[in-house]
Amino acid sequence: MMQIKKLSLLLLMAAGIIFFTQCLDPGNNKDPRGKAFAGSEACVTCHKEIYGSYLHTAHFHSASLASAATIEGSFSKDSNIFVVNDTTKIMMEKRDNDFYQVLYENGKEKRAERFDIVFGYTKGQAYLYWKKSLLFQLPVSYFTGLHDWTSSPGYPEGKVFFDRPVFKRCFECHSSFIKQSGVYEVKALDKNSVIYNIDCERCHGPAASHVKFHTEYPSEKEGKYIISFKNFTRSQKIDMCALCHSGNNNIMLASTFAFLPGDSLSQFMIVNKNIPPSGKPDVHGNQPQLLELSKCFRASNMDCSTCHNTHVNDRGNYAQYAERCQTCHSEANHNFCKMADSLDRSFVRNNCTKCHMPEQSSNIIKGKTSDEGMQTAVQMVNHRIAIYPEESQKIISLLQKENGTSKK
Ligand code: HEC
Ligand code: HEC
Ligand code: HEC
Ligand code: HEC
Ligand code: HEC
Ligand code: HEC
Ligand code: HEC
Repeated sequence: MMQIKKLSLLLLMAAGIIFFTQCLDPGNNKDPRGKAFAGSEACVTCHKEIYGSYLHTAHFHSASLASAATIEGSFSKDSNIFVVNDTTKIMMEKRDNDFYQVLYENGKEKRAERFDIVFGYTKGQAYLYWKKSLLFQLPVSYFTGLHDWTSSPGYPEGKVFFDRPVFKRCFECHSSFIKQSGVYEVKALDKNSVIYNIDCERCHGPAASHVKFHTEYPSEKEGKYIISFKNFTRSQKIDMCALCHSGNNNIMLASTFAFLPGDSLSQFMIVNKNIPPSGKPDVHGNQPQLLELSKCFRASNMDCSTCHNTHVNDRGNYAQYAERCQTCHSEANHNFCKMADSLDRSFVRNNCTKCHMPEQSSNIIKGKTSDEGMQTAVQMVNHRIAIYPEESQKIISLLQKENGTSKK
């Protein structure tokens, strides 16, 4: 009798514990990556400032559901046409609450596919549509620099192509998760498993236990149950970024969704270090490879975070980037810019990167617009920090012109 009472008491207690942990466990959400993950929203209570600024970053907007708010191209009359050739055009049309790319041949509608997913935020956008459990890229993309609809990069000119499949690999760099089953031709993607943004835990690893612990012990000031970057080596720090920023020509060994901060990139891919002789950046980025070629990099311990705070949108803030240079280069250190004496000093101080990390056009991303033919659509900063006499001269001429006109 005693035995049974004890047993049922134990069972009751066990049930209670399970019940309680499930209630209290903020990690017990439906994160498609599993219970170890809490989801970005769980971070806001304690990391309010970081969370708030992160919402404005390109990482947060790297992929999204298509909507009037997320599609950058225009659907208004006359701005919504992409001319393929004399007889063929694609119109961007809003029908009820959805958006479509509609193919017309000799004025007749031939095919319409819906904008379902948007990839890209700052420089341009690609659009994907679902067909059962497969994803395909739509034929028309958008480039911010051209303010226009263009052919999707790499697509044959003068042809319409709706059938370029998109697999998990794109999501490994542009999102935090998608579930893919099957192999080879029969890969199926799970629509409900997508985590669209590059979220906190993509860079920090699973954090459900961290959230649980700090919720229970609010006075604990040191971060527990979370991987810390503080004691990482430089290559561990850089690998966290190189995971997605070392280009699209690498030999893949494993899915990068499994990468945790601190892991070595070499377990996931063999990085193509083969930079073209021009040293020009690849559109899908090769910032680590280029940075490594710089004297600055080789003669110091700099990493990506020396210049980038990934929690903040610093796009276009040249003065701030210049400040980062001046943590090492100053008159006091006798390694300041040699141009400082011959030019406007405040201009030099605020614009280091314009001359030493010039914006150059990417050789790969080209798009065709209706009116202008093939155009280079994307400018990227060259991460090989060096002396670029030609680019510097261009910037100096611009400066002199500005000074000339402002004196009038
Ligand atoms: C209940 C409060 C709480 C929640 C919720 C919380 N954290 Fe923290 N976190 C802390 C505290 C306290 C620290 C230590 C002080 C600091 O670094 O801000 C910390 C530190 C960290 C650190 C730095 C660790 C180090 O030593 O370098 C990271 C990274 C981090 N948290 C990520 C996250 C992520 C990601 C989430 C959401 C999934 C999250 N935190 C949710 C309380 C919380
Ligand atoms: C190796 C990682 C990686 C893979 C794989 C990848 N991308 Fe990208 N992609 C990037 C990065 C990083 C950028 C941003 C380029 C930059 O600014 O350096 C980018 C930029 C873009 C842009 C322009 C967005 C913008 O705002 O600058 C589009 C559109 C895009 N990718 C679509 C795709 C599609 C579609 C696929 C799959 C066919 C794909 N990408 C695969 C990493 C990747
Ligand atoms: C999971 C993949 C991934 C990881 C990890 C990642 N990035 Fe990115 N990053 C991207 C993609 C994709 C974009 C382009 C987003 C867009 O514009 O659509 C991007 C954009 C950027 C930009 C351009 C921001 C802008 O305003 O245009 C910077 C700078 C950047 N990343 C730096 C970093 C640094 C530094 C790290 C490491 C701490 C890092 N990234 C880690 C995928 C990643
Ligand atoms: C693109 C990658 C990336 C994303 C996304 C990201 N972080 Fe970080 N985070 C880093 C890196 C890298 C560091 C270390 C910076 C350094 O070395 O100075 C860091 C540092 C931290 C720290 C400790 C240092 C500090 O600044 O207080 C906290 C806390 C933190 N992140 C929380 C978050 C939260 C919360 C989110 C989501 C809202 C988030 N991070 C999103 C890359 C990222
Ligand atoms: C972490 C410290 C550090 C930072 C930050 C830094 N540098 Fe350097 N830089 C160095 C060192 C060290 C050298 C090598 C000096 C030498 O070899 O005499 C160097 C060399 C250079 C050179 C000479 C390159 C050549 O090929 O001859 C230029 C130009 C330069 N830096 C510009 C910059 C600019 C612009 C920035 C900001 C975008 C910057 N640096 C940021 C440390 C740094
Ligand atoms: C010495 C400073 C410096 C360092 C170190 C640095 N960057 Fe940058 N990065 C810049 C500047 C400046 C820009 C241009 C930002 C803008 O236009 O607002 C930039 C832009 C970018 C962009 C956006 C693409 C573009 O060309 O506009 C990405 C992605 C990026 N950096 C990734 C990285 C990664 C990854 C690392 C580490 C391997 C890194 N950066 C290290 C200064 C730096
Ligand atoms: C208008 C373009 C321009 C701007 C802005 C500029 N630089 Fe320079 N910088 C140059 C040129 C060109 C040279 C080479 C001059 C020479 O060799 O006579 C140079 C030389 C240098 C050198 C010396 C390299 C050596 O030979 O030892 C360093 C270091 C440097 N710059 C850093 C900076 C830093 C840091 C900033 C921002 C505070 C900056 N530069 C702003 C164009 C520029």
